[in-house]
Amino acid sequence: MTTRALLIACLLAIVACSDTPESEGAALAVDVGCVACHMETDTDIAPTLNGIFGKTVALEDGTTATVDDAYVRRSIVEPQAQIVAGYEGSRMPVFILTEEEIGLLVDYIRGLG
Ligand code: HEC
Repeated sequence: MTTRALLIACLLAIVACSDTPESEGAALAVDVGCVACHMETDTDIAPTLNGIFGKTVALEDGTTATVDDAYVRRSIVEPQAQIVAGYEGSRMPVFILTEEEIGLLVDYIRGLG
């Protein structure tokens, strides 16, 4: 089993046992495919979402941003608005999500630390 498959299995197991907003968000991240690009550590495909909350990220336009609810929300809704430095070449797709789903994903990412 690959690490990713294991991670997905773990996420699904957690979700099966509880239904906190964070675990609902984790299930959603699997369902809509966020975890296909966002892995446990930074890769060429995408930066990791683990441990980013509260940190300062460098953006490709030379500015920085603090990862908070507003930044995460914007990264999901308008992925091209603030591009993480080093990822100019990889594009995050725009997802059609409900307000509730966006909220769950933000809770999930906040829960990753
Ligand atoms: C096709 C690959 C791909 C998929 C699928 C994808 N992303 Fe991304 N994501 C990226 C790339 C590349 C970046 C970095 C460039 C940028 O900032 O847009 C990024 C950046 C982000 C960031 C900012 C991270 C940081 O370190 O500042 C967040 C938050 C994020 N994605 C959340 C999500 C969520 C939630 C989903 C699922 C709804 C998702 N992504 C699906 C490729 C992807």
